[in-house]
Amino acid sequence: MLVLGIETSCDETSVAVVKDGREVLSNIISSQVPIHERFGGVVPEIASRNHVEAISNVMKKALKEAKVTLSDIDAVACTYGPGLVGALLVGVSYAKALSYASNKPLVGTNHIEGHIAANYITHKDLKPPFIALIISGGHTHLVYIKDYKNFEILGKTRDDAIGEAFDKVARVIGLGYPGGPKIDKLAKEGSANIELPTTHFDNLDFSFSGIKTAVINLNHKDSNINKADLSASFEKTVTDILIEHTLNASKKLNINTIVLAGGVSANSYIREKFVELEKTNNMKIYYPEPVLCTDNAAMIASAGYYNYINGVTSGLDLNAEPNLKLLN
Ligand code: KG4
Ligand code: ZN
Repeated sequence: MLVLGIETSCDETSVAVVKDGREVLSNIISSQVPIHERFGGVVPEIASRNHVEAISNVMKKALKEAKVTLSDIDAVACTYGPGLVGALLVGVSYAKALSYASNKPLVGTNHIEGHIAANYITHKDLKPPFIALIISGGHTHLVYIKDYKNFEILGKTRDDAIGEAFDKVARVIGLGYPGGPKIDKLAKEGSANIELPTTHFDNLDFSFSGIKTAVINLNHKDSNINKADLSASFEKTVTDILIEHTLNASKKLNINTIVLAGGVSANSYIREKFVELEKTNNMKIYYPEPVLCTDNAAMIASAGYYNYINGVTSGLDLNAEPNLKLLN
C-alpha cells in the first residue's frame, strides 16, 4: 500500500511516498530555516505563505522521485495538528483537494504520532509495546505505546517543551536559530561543571523552564561566562532528567524497549547517554536516523498508514487543530 504524506505544521514543507508504512520511496523536505533565521525563530505568517508557494513543487518532486503517479497512491495522509494553525491549514487544504480530485481516502494524522512512527521506518523490526520519549520543539511526552493506535501518557512537560528550552538558551547565549544543533556542537567543547537547579514532581511529569531561566540568569550576571561549559551543563542537566524519568517508567511497566523521537532526539549527547543504558540497564534503545528526527512527511505517511489500516480516515470537513493532543 502506498501512502502520500503531507507535513506543514511548522517551518518544513514536506511530501513523501511510503510503502506499507515502513519503506520510504521519497521524502522531499523544503526547509524554511534560512527564511526564519534572521528573525531568531519561526514567524507563523511567513511560514504559511512559504508553504503555499512550495507545496505543489514539493509534491511533484515526491511523486517523481518515488517513480509513481497520483493514481498509484492508495491514501493521502496529512498532519492536521498540533502545530501553527496557518501552516497546518496549507497542508490540510492541499490534502483535501488532492483526496477529492483523485478520489483517494484522506487520513488526518497527528504530528506526534508521526514522530513516533519515524522509528518504524528506521527500524523495520520495531513493534509495540514500548515506551516512547518524544522530545521536540513543541512537545515532551513519555508515552506507553501499547499498540500502533493504543497509547497511555505517562508524563509530560508542565511548562516549556525541551526543544523550546534548547532554542531559548541558544538565543540568549548568542548562538542563533535553530538553537538545538548549535548547543549540541558547542557543548562538545565544554565540560558540565556548572550546577543548575531541577524541578521534581512525584509523578513522571517534566519541567524545563526553571533550568532555562537559571541559564539565562547566569549568562546575564556574567556575560563572559564560558558558553561551552554552560551549554554542556544545560545538556547534562536535561539529559539526567530524561534518563531518570525513562528508567522510572521502564521499572513501573517492566518494559525495557525505549524509543526516542522528535527533533531533540537528534542530540548527540542525549543519544550517547541513552545508548549507555543498553549496557548498564539491559535496555534496547531505538532512535530515528537524523533526517527522520526533525519534521518530515515520511513519518506522517507511516503514521497515516497505521491509521488507515486501523480504520481511521477523515472526511472533507477535516480542519487544522493547532492544540491537538496525542489522546483526546
Ligand atoms: O521535531 P521538530 O522538528 O519540530 C517539532 O515538532 O517541534 O523539533 C525541532 C526542535 C527544535 O527545538 C530544535 O532546536 C531541536 O528540535 N533540535 C535539537 C537538535 N536538532 C534539532 N535539539 C538538540 N540537539 C540537536 N542536535
Ligand atoms: Zn515535529
